[in-house]
Amino acid sequence: MNTFYVTTPIYYANSLPHLGHLYTMIVGDTIARAKRQRWIETYFLTGTDEHGINIERAAQKAGRTPQEQADYVVSYYKKMTSEFGLDTAHGGYDIFMRTTEPFHQQGVSEFWRRVSKAKTPKGNAAIYKGHYEGWFCAACAAYKTEDEYHKPKNEGDPPACLVHDTPLDRVSEESYFFRLSDYDEALLSVFESRPDFVRPEYRRNEVISFVRGGLQDLSISRLKTSVSWGVPVPDDPAHTMYVWFDALTNYITAIGFGNEERQKAVGFEKFWPALHLVGKDILRFHAVYWPAFLIAADIELPRAIVAHGMWLDPNGRKMSKTIGNTVELDVLNKYFSTDAIRYFCLREMVFGQDGRFGYEGLIDRANSDLASGWGNLSSRTLTMIARYCDSRIPSGLIPEDKLLLAKRTGVDTDETTVAGFIEHARDQFVHHLDNLAFSKALETAWSVVARVDKMITDAKPWDLAKDENQKQTLGVVLYRAAESLRWLSVLLYPVMPEASAAIWKQLGLGGSPAQLDPTQLKWGELKESAPIGDVQPVFPRMDKAKIISEITSDKTEPSTVAPGPADTTAPVVHATQADAVGVTSFIEIDDFAKVDLRVGQVLTAERVPKADKLLLLKVDLGEEQPRQILAGIAQYYEPEQLIGRKVVIVANLKPRKLRGFESQGMVVAASYGEEGRPVIATFTEDVPNGARLK
Ligand code: MSP
Repeated sequence: MNTFYVTTPIYYANSLPHLGHLYTMIVGDTIARAKRQRWIETYFLTGTDEHGINIERAAQKAGRTPQEQADYVVSYYKKMTSEFGLDTAHGGYDIFMRTTEPFHQQGVSEFWRRVSKAKTPKGNAAIYKGHYEGWFCAACAAYKTEDEYHKPKNEGDPPACLVHDTPLDRVSEESYFFRLSDYDEALLSVFESRPDFVRPEYRRNEVISFVRGGLQDLSISRLKTSVSWGVPVPDDPAHTMYVWFDALTNYITAIGFGNEERQKAVGFEKFWPALHLVGKDILRFHAVYWPAFLIAADIELPRAIVAHGMWLDPNGRKMSKTIGNTVELDVLNKYFSTDAIRYFCLREMVFGQDGRFGYEGLIDRANSDLASGWGNLSSRTLTMIARYCDSRIPSGLIPEDKLLLAKRTGVDTDETTVAGFIEHARDQFVHHLDNLAFSKALETAWSVVARVDKMITDAKPWDLAKDENQKQTLGVVLYRAAESLRWLSVLLYPVMPEASAAIWKQLGLGGSPAQLDPTQLKWGELKESAPIGDVQPVFPRMDKAKIISEITSDKTEPSTVAPGPADTTAPVVHATQADAVGVTSFIEIDDFAKVDLRVGQVLTAERVPKADKLLLLKVDLGEEQPRQILAGIAQYYEPEQLIGRKVVIVANLKPRKLRGFESQGMVVAASYGEEGRPVIATFTEDVPNGARLK
């Protein structure tokens, strides 16, 4: 059956939505619209994750019950999805899933029962009762191993989570365990046989190394006396299900697993398996735990798990309320069109990698690509049709007897030239969108904008209009531009639904670009003589200085969206492990000056044959020749992750030979944990190659 199911994560109901949440919804919404446009019956899920200790605590702090807390946060999510055109009323999600829905609780109980009856691939019971002893981060809703927390400075204090820098909870209690350790081979064979199962590839490799590193059984329940806000374990109500077990299952309960009513309304078999969109921080839950649970329950695995990067501020720092570098949804909503935000998010972030988001960058892109790009192409074309062609679509053909005349103006008389270009671009665009390469898809669409713009500028319709003999030549140029606009409206509809519909209407077309399959577009279907609509600018230019100054003064006023007492989990800046390391001996500045540290950029990176740990790098230090440098980081970095990256090099280290290669310097990296995991030092601002660190 021609169906598709796409999901965003379901968001914790302890704090209010922010840009990161909006982003995944925009991605999901774009995918859903693109599929629907191609007549694929699509189901798009988003929602909230409402159980667990973190929500319980946020509620307590705010003086609410956990349910009131969840309702409160959901009201902000609903406000966001409505304001940004992502809800059902705007053609967006099909379900806003809430894990407190009774049908979900029914479904997840059924799922638990299935798993608890299962045998692992190694013939053991998939779920068993045991005793859990260890550390738990409420904010991550995850158990933490030693390399995942900072050791306390004072003996007796709890360690702190590496992600949130908040104290961990000590858990020592009876617990049900999922025998994850028995699923390593089964999971590895899935990753092996389905290379697209976890994407992008470098994330897949991380997941594979994690599984190869050995899996530990997972505690999947808490005593009700410790965590009461959750789904009771079937037949043992003294236990509450682990919130991730509960939350992940939402993807199947939403469409009917374990519940008749949902099954009738949606249909599990009809839509499963799903494409899961997740942030890289929650990949392990989706790519390891979830498939293992599904294997146990004998349910087909997801279609794919695709991890995106994080939005950072324009300087590459993590967004944080403490630093004051967050992007506020109410500011976005007040100053920017939804389409401009969607375009920016999809164009600016290379899907999978981290991206940088700032109001200035958003205004720059909106002005250059939208107002001066697509918007300008549309208004100049339509204004000329209004002026020179009496507001009717001109003919796209030059009569035989006018061919020579047309040729003299330099206008291409062969209509297949533009048609061929746009058809090729359409194929590329659709291919990129199918591969979730949004940024590339948009680059391709903009190559059409540039091509058509150039065609107009070269043909100078304003001069052709002065010569009655060139009326047809003028018409042909404008027809080609208008037909290209029709194609662009169809292609860009999933990314910018409002603007596409507006341009569509201005072209005088009926129906909606939402209903046209881009792969079925045929050049020349724009009808000659049809009247165009009212011409209006679709993307007005934004006055950057004015808007930035207004945003800045807004910031100093109290926020229009009251953050509410529940908004307690703003991301915090990480303390590094080095903070905890006491300095034991001091050096003089002259000692330090002996080390020549330079900025370098990795040009190439490859593995060294028969050396598991080594990568061979070519690094540009701004010298005549790039340096050849060996780095013992191959177990932690994929070569392609490093290409283009700015690094710090010890440039005056005596060259030495390793495995037959001369290493002409050393890459600087932090090293942490017992195994000395390296994290390469880098820069968040632009800096030229060869600059000295001092
Ligand atoms: N409740 C879990 C998910 C359960 S799914 C069965 C959860 N919720 S969350 O609210 O903390 O985060 C949800 C998503 O927001 C994650 O995918 C995370 O990556 C994403 N983002 C949070 N901050 C972000 C940015 N700054 N940029 C992009 N996405 C970010 O985890």
